[in-house]
Amino acid sequence: MVISQTLVQLGIPRLGVATLQEGIALREAGISAPILVMGALFANQFPDMIAHRLTPVVYDREAAAGFAACPRSGPEPYPVHVKVDTGMGRLGLSPDEVLSLLQSPPFRGPLRVEGLMTHLADADSQDPSYTQTQIARFGSVISQLKAAGLQVPLVHAANSAAILCHPSAHFTVVRPGIMLYGYHTTPLGGDALELKPVLTLTTNVVQVRRVAPGESVSYGRTFVASRLSRIAVLPIGYADGYSRALSNRGAVLIAGRRAPVVGRVCMDMTMVDVTDIPTVRPGHEAVLIGRQGDMQITAADLAAWLGTIPYEVLCSIGPRVIRRYSPIPAQAT
Ligand SMILES: Cc1ncc(COP(=O)(O)O)c(C=O)c1O
Repeated sequence: MVISQTLVQLGIPRLGVATLQEGIALREAGISAPILVMGALFANQFPDMIAHRLTPVVYDREAAAGFAACPRSGPEPYPVHVKVDTGMGRLGLSPDEVLSLLQSPPFRGPLRVEGLMTHLADADSQDPSYTQTQIARFGSVISQLKAAGLQVPLVHAANSAAILCHPSAHFTVVRPGIMLYGYHTTPLGGDALELKPVLTLTTNVVQVRRVAPGESVSYGRTFVASRLSRIAVLPIGYADGYSRALSNRGAVLIAGRRAPVVGRVCMDMTMVDVTDIPTVRPGHEAVLIGRQGDMQITAADLAAWLGTIPYEVLCSIGPRVIRRYSPIPAQAT
């Protein structure tokens, strides 16, 4: 929400979200800019979509007809975006269905096609050929609409990777997701634009325990101390998005050094070994994602430990983690 407000203040004219609820939350936070809801669209959501002036993405004839029939207060055509599946294999009309939909009754009065969009399946690949094929298929839909005299003001296809690697996918609007958080989809290598991770996940040590050799830590006794150890307890767990798969695998930064996760990550707590960092005391900051001194742990590091992608790490951070927002440093703007 704060990120959306900041984007609007920076002059971003429109926003995109995945769900109706996200769109409503932004409206309730006072955002009046156009908001495109890009995910699923169910008939029982149409009235809320209209009540909150959210722009739906229409990806089949039934949704277009149903939305067009939904009661509204004003007579003017309601703006929608139409999604074409050019090869993602997810939501969208096939390229040969678009023109006939846009010439059908819902678009001759109740609805206005404000945008045409597609989604790229492989924009971060070293091999550009599939993305080029998708862009060409999208281009042929655009040409068909032009030839039929249909004007679509907003045309969009590019996610973060395409913004960086496929200028021909930029059209009139782009849809950055993960790059807003300073991450690449996958390491793009070489001359890729440098992005700076902006998110930090921290907690504070709640207790430091002395664990004798042979004693264990956490559920299942998967860590047994082999030496007299100092174990710091952190009040964060998998309910906060610090995955249980990081048990005996993850690490955090405390006092400018790396402390390995020991034992199972619990729902609300995680233990780390600070035997080799004797200065650690309750209250000290522990960085799970971010920088401390010269050291850094990124969401990409966690993703590598977990066998997943930074997206999953970032969007797993749970709602009970308190968010604090810092202004963008002047030199970064
Ligand atoms: C339709 C659509 N557009 C844009 C994005 C942003 O993608 P990225 O985070 O890779 O920039 C997504 C992400 O899932 C998406 O589903």
